Amino acid sequence: MKVSLAGLTKAGAKADLFVAGCFKGEKDLKALRRIDSSFAKAAETAISKKRFEGKTGESFSSYQAGYRQAPEMLLLGLGEKKDLKTASLRKSVGALTGLANGHKAMKVRVLLDSFLSEDISAEEAVKIFTEISLLAAYKFLQYKTKKKDDPPKAPGSIELVTEKKELVSTLRFVMARSEKIAKAVLFARNLNNEPGNVMNPPRLASEAKKLAAEKKLGCKVLGLAELKKLGMNGILAVNQGSVTPPVLIILEYGKEHKAQGTVCLVGKGVTFDTGGISIKPSKGMEEMKYDKSGAIAVIATMGLVADLKLPLHIVGLAPSVENNVAADPQRPGDIIRMYNGKTVEVMNTDAEGRLILADALSYCEEFKPVAIIDAATLTGMCHHTFGDKTCGILGTDQKLIDAIQKAGEKVGERCWQLPLWEEYGECIKSHHSDLRNTGDGYAGTITAAMFLKEFVPEKTPWVHLDIAGTAYCSANRFDCPKGANGFGVRLLTEVLSNWSPENVS
Ligand code: BES
Ligand code: MN
Ligand code: ZN
Repeated sequence: MKVSLAGLTKAGAKADLFVAGCFKGEKDLKALRRIDSSFAKAAETAISKKRFEGKTGESFSSYQAGYRQAPEMLLLGLGEKKDLKTASLRKSVGALTGLANGHKAMKVRVLLDSFLSEDISAEEAVKIFTEISLLAAYKFLQYKTKKKDDPPKAPGSIELVTEKKELVSTLRFVMARSEKIAKAVLFARNLNNEPGNVMNPPRLASEAKKLAAEKKLGCKVLGLAELKKLGMNGILAVNQGSVTPPVLIILEYGKEHKAQGTVCLVGKGVTFDTGGISIKPSKGMEEMKYDKSGAIAVIATMGLVADLKLPLHIVGLAPSVENNVAADPQRPGDIIRMYNGKTVEVMNTDAEGRLILADALSYCEEFKPVAIIDAATLTGMCHHTFGDKTCGILGTDQKLIDAIQKAGEKVGERCWQLPLWEEYGECIKSHHSDLRNTGDGYAGTITAAMFLKEFVPEKTPWVHLDIAGTAYCSANRFDCPKGANGFGVRLLTEVLSNWSPENVS
């Protein structure tokens, strides 16, 4: 799928399908009349006969070889103009990619100007069209032997056209940026949809190295020996159940911007979570290949910030292990001494994410960051609380939480805050050690975050994103087929793109 942008021309090469948006109650299709009066007349008749009313999801099309822009013209209902906001436009664009594909159109031309509202500027519309059409076209075909037999989900190309020729160069700039963002999200989906038998910790590390070489990022991978030397026993304890070695992937961007401050991103990279000795039920366990979503969101974001040349020093850390039951697995009741010296009683080997994150969070100290943001598919409880539509956000710095929440609202990756009150710390205290890795069974998302907080370098603003519900789609969605969806890449990038010291208190 290709996206492009141009000024509208009256003559020139025809597309297969020309699309204009139409609001509910719109009767006088002025712009359309300028473009093709014969189709505009047909559409106005359809509107006056209530055959087409411009409701969201409705469409009206007509086929005539004589139309100027394309033999087939289509009006897409957008609902009330006042209701066209980023969320609804994203859905409409997702639907349009499918609809155009259904019309067997290879080359689609879209009248951008007809998709604007109070909330949607031309820039915003270009951003959404570019991102969503590229994302909606995505398929993971790595393991389909006859790839060609798999029907496409989107047309071959979408060309946005505008009558406002003076905007073309600015809009092309917006489009180029949005393309980079979409590509990073697709990169994340591709890595994440790979199964546990392929995308294990060493393979994830080699993907990170490949990306680093391509984007000129600093890259260091700590292997088994180094993790042992450093005493990263949280990572090592989880890894005891796997014959595959663990890694701590460290990517670095923008050293030259250190004066502006360093932000650390940390992502959970459990390449498969069986639960360990506290083994998970088999139903749905295949979805635990997505337990590496946080790490992959961080890795993909690191590639993207380099593409976007952000003026900030950013370090991405991804501890990666497989939580399995082979070798000499950890037992419930085991006590481990973590990288920062605190001791933890492992009550449940399925609460492994916090053990590996804890060491990585403590290790951030090395970089003296002004803020740490972590992303992790950490608790089933978060999925239960928010479903697949909202990610849990908790942390020690309200300003940073607010900034991230605002960014999420903007890019369509929403977060909702849960409290981190001291009282919740009670239930992760252990009888025989400093801490235990599970709470009392209640408020699981909060107690998991309380546990992480114990390992964040002192006085460093820290925010945790629990993406257990949002990281993958259990069914097809308008912008993503069932599977990994790349959650977090757009959210983190938006936060970093608008970074200012004001973001933290
Ligand atoms: N990876 C899981 C959390 C998860 C569950 C992610 C569902 C995505 C969907 C995590 O490692 C886990 O198993 N957490 C346990 C914690 C419990 C043992 C305290 C959970 O949520 O059940
Ligand atoms: Mn687990
Ligand atoms: Zn897990």
